[in-house]
This record gives sequence, structure tokens and C-alpha cells, in this order.
Amino acid sequence: MPKIRVGIIGSGGVAQWGHIPAYKKLKGVEVLAICDPRVEVAEEVAKRNSIPYVFKDYKELLKLKEIRAVSICTPNYLHKEAAVAALSAGKDVLCEKPMATSAKEAEKMVKAAQEAGRILMIGLNNRFRSEVQALKRLIKEGELGDIYYAKCGWLRRRGIPGLGSWFTEEAKSGGGPLIDLGVHMIDLAWYLMGCPKAHSVTASAYQKFAPQISSVIYDTEDFSCGIIKFKGQATLFFETSWALNIKEELLYSEVYGTKGGARLDPLEIYSEKNGILIDICPKVKPLSGHQEEVRHFIECIKRKKKPISPGEEGWEVMKLLDAIYESAEKGREVIVG
Ligand SMILES: NC(=O)c1ccc[n+]([C@@H]2O[C@H](COP(=O)([O-])OP(=O)(O)OC[C@H]3O[C@@H](n4cnc5c(N)ncnc54)[C@H](O)[C@@H]3O)[C@@H](O)[C@H]2O)c1
Repeated sequence: MPKIRVGIIGSGGVAQWGHIPAYKKLKGVEVLAICDPRVEVAEEVAKRNSIPYVFKDYKELLKLKEIRAVSICTPNYLHKEAAVAALSAGKDVLCEKPMATSAKEAEKMVKAAQEAGRILMIGLNNRFRSEVQALKRLIKEGELGDIYYAKCGWLRRRGIPGLGSWFTEEAKSGGGPLIDLGVHMIDLAWYLMGCPKAHSVTASAYQKFAPQISSVIYDTEDFSCGIIKFKGQATLFFETSWALNIKEELLYSEVYGTKGGARLDPLEIYSEKNGILIDICPKVKPLSGHQEEVRHFIECIKRKKKPISPGEEGWEVMKLLDAIYESAEKGREVIVG
């Protein structure tokens, strides 16, 4: 089989510690090109990783016929533009989370993938963790019964990413901790619940730390929480912060069904057999979600498989995030469109 050659769009943090090392570990895969308007950064990354081509503009990278697929590792507001251009140029796309800054943008990406007949996979790396895949399998086999409640959170006491960079500028990020961290946790819970259709959202968002920082642009929320109700009656509670007066950082994902409940980090299952309460601690070899995500993307290209985290599901998650922000702004329940 000929080598699969990939291009990296955006040479910042996640490209350097996530995508490039993951591609380099795979046999039959070559990172052929990288691009970034900060061309000096791209050049340095290319040198360190023996990447032959460096561009300032991703449109130049997309002209390389040998490139079969790209990873989009740019700030959030550029995901849609770069993904649509790459898909239209006939490339398969692995796009970082959040898929976009709105459901409207996500829809355009999905349509572009469908029209081009190319893969659009979203970098929801938590889905690919080995304990998540193990739990998903147990859920599919009916171990938890019908899941009717889930709760998740990623609460940082103080952990505002790239303060003053695109991360804290709403126009470029699309929002704060909800779209940055909450997207991981809400997606993970929703995935484990079996991706039910959403009905409504009631949420709050607060900006209590941002007004204290006037030296840089910081106009996103710093905490949000809420409840999502699904059409099949299930409920998901979430909470997420970049800054909150909490004792320490807290990360959790829990799902509760008629036969059993489960939590992650580490994976534990709680059920009852013959009137006896049983706790199960499955032994799962830990595998990095980022490495597995990239391995799966290449596998999907080789075997023409539908990804575990397809653009269509990323779009559904973006609809949830839009509804959460709308509910927080209007101060009332919002029906998910
Ligand atoms: N899945 C995860 O765990 C994870 C972790 C971190 C970041 N991310 C996501 O990855 C994306 C990038 O985050 P990051 O932390 O690497 O940010 P970053 O700011 O470190 O890197 C972004 C890079 O994109 C470049 N860029 C800007 N405009 C560009 C353009 N038009 N073409 C090409 N490159 C351009 C910037 O110059 C910068 O080097 C974001 O969407 C973020 O949410 C995901």
C-alpha cells in the first residue's frame, strides 16, 4: 500500500505535542507539509520533525497532490474555512475540537464532506481512550441497561488557557470553558449515552474573573453549568470552568442506567447481582486518546471506514453548545434546533 501523506494546518501546541508525534509513530504514514502564518514557528517544527514542506498559507499546502489528508490545528474560528477548503481539494480531514464556533459552521463542514465524498473526523480524543472504548462496549452489550442520567464536569480552580490569546477572545474561540473543556465532557457523556436526540437545555454562564483582567482581551464566560434533556427522557448535567473558587481541579464523567452505573478515571462499574451490590474495576491497558484518534483516522482512510467521531456527531454537539449559550443569555429553557 502506498504511503499516506498528511499535512498539518496550524503548527502550535496541539500540532506539536499531539498530531505530529502521533502520525510519526504510525508505519506507512508521512507528515509531508506544515503551514502557519507564523512561518518561523512552522519552520522550526518542520526542522525538528523532518517535515519536507513549509508554507505560510494553507491554500498552498492543499495544492500538494501527494497530500491525502490534513489535520486542522488552528484556532477555532478557522476550522470551518480550512476544513471546507481541504475537503473541496479532495483531502480527508481530522479537525480539532471544538468542531467550529457554531452549529451553522459545523453544518457547512458536514455538507462539504458529503459533497466531496471525503472523511470529516473530529478530534474528540476522549472517545478514543481505552477505558472509554471498554465502557462503550459494555454499554452496547447492555451491562448498564437503559441509561437515563449522566453527569460530567471539568472544573479548573485557575486554568485560563492562553490568557490574552485567541482562546479568551470570544470572536476567535466561540466561547470559554464550555467550548474548550465542556465540549470534551459533554461529548463524552453524550457518546456513552448512545448519542440521543436532544430536546431542551437550561443553562447558566458567568463571567466573574474576566472583568478583573483588563490588560488583555478576555470576553468569554469563565464558568457554565446546566441541564440537557433528551427526547427519550434522559438527562445530562454538566459544569465547567477555567476559574472557580473550588478546592482543586475536578474532572468527572458518570453514567447511570437501570442495571448499572459507571464512572471514568479510573473506570468503575456499580451494579447489583442476586441482591448483592457489586463494584467492578475493569483492568484496561491505558492508551492515549490522542494517539488512538490519529491511528483510527488513518485506519478509516485505509479501510474507507466511518470514523468513531464523525462530523455529523460533532455537528450535533455544536447544536448543544449553541443552545447552552443561548439559554444562558436568555435566562430560560431553549429547545435544541
Ligand atoms: N483535543 C485536545 O486535547 C486539544 C488540546 C489543545 C488544543 N486543542 C484544539 O486545537 C486547536 C489549536 O489549539 P492550540 O492549543 O494548538 O493553539 P495554538 O494557538 O498553540 O496554535 C494554533 C496555531 O494556528 C496558527 N494559525 C493561525 N491562523 C492560521 C491559519 N490561517 N493557517 C494555519 N495556521 C494558523 C497559529 O499561528 C498557531 O501557531 C484549537 O481548536 C484547540 O481547541 C485540542
